Amino acid sequence: MENQLLQGDALKLLPTLEAGSFDALITDPPYASGGVHAGARQRSPAQKYLDSNLHADFVGDERDQRSHLQWMVLWLSECVRLLKDGAPVCLFTDWRQLPLTTDALQAAGFTWRGIVVWDKTEGVRPQLGRFRNQAEYVVWGSKGAMPLTRRAPVLPGVIRAKVLKSDKLHLTGKPTELMRQVVRICEEGGRILDPFAGSGTTLVAAQLEGYRWVGCELTQHYADVTRQRLAAL
Ligand SMILES: C[S@@+](CC[C@H](N)C(=O)[O-])C[C@H]1O[C@@H](n2cnc3c(N)ncnc32)[C@H](O)[C@@H]1O
Repeated sequence: MENQLLQGDALKLLPTLEAGSFDALITDPPYASGGVHAGARQRSPAQKYLDSNLHADFVGDERDQRSHLQWMVLWLSECVRLLKDGAPVCLFTDWRQLPLTTDALQAAGFTWRGIVVWDKTEGVRPQLGRFRNQAEYVVWGSKGAMPLTRRAPVLPGVIRAKVLKSDKLHLTGKPTELMRQVVRICEEGGRILDPFAGSGTTLVAAQLEGYRWVGCELTQHYADVTRQRLAAL
C-alpha cells in the first residue's frame, strides 16, 4: 500500500480507508483551546495563538467543549476500525484539553495507557510570577491489549525538544525531532495514520524513520506545504 496525503475532511476520508491496515495512529488534532472563556476559544487560531503573523490560519479549532468532545469521538471511532489489534495511538493536546482528550480516547473504544510530556524547554515565553507554560502532552493508548512482543524500542516518557523557527511551518507545528521520537512507538517498518497532518511533520518523521504513512489535511495551504516538505526529503 502506497504512502498518500489526502486533501479533505478526515471524517469523510477515514471511512474510505481499509479496515485493520494501520500499525499506529499518531496525530495532532485541532486542540479547540487557546482561551479560558468560550468567546476566546471561538476566535480563529491566528487570533488565539502566538506566532500568528508568521503562519497561515487553519480550520476546525473553534468548537466549544461539548461539540469538540463529540467530534473527537466521531473520528477516533473511525480510527478504531482502521487500526490493527494492539496498535498504539498517540494524541497531542495541551493542559486545557487534557481531560477531554483522555475521555475521547476511551469513549471511542481505545485503552488509555498514559501521558508523555513534551518539554518545550525554557525557550517559551516567560511570565513573572507564573509557572512557565513549558509542556504539551501526548495522550497515548492502544487498540485493546498491546503485546510486549511488538517490535518497538523503549521510549522516553518526557521528550525535550525546542521549537525552532526554521523547522516550524504551521501555526501549531511540532518539531521534527520530537515527532521522530514519537513515531518510534509504531512497530518497525509499520504503517502510520495521521488524519490531521498540518504541515506534515508526522509524515516527514515517519518517512525519515523508515515507516509507511497516510495523512489527511483539510486546509489546502498546509496540504501543499506537506507535499513540498515530503518532496524535498
Ligand atoms: C494542530 S494542526 C497539526 C499540525 C502538525 N502537527 C504540524 O506539525 O504541522 C491540525 C490540522 O488539522 C487540520 N484539520 C482540521 N480539521 C480537519 C478535518 N476535519 N480533516 C482534516 N484536517 C483537519 C487543520 O487544518 C490543521 O492543519
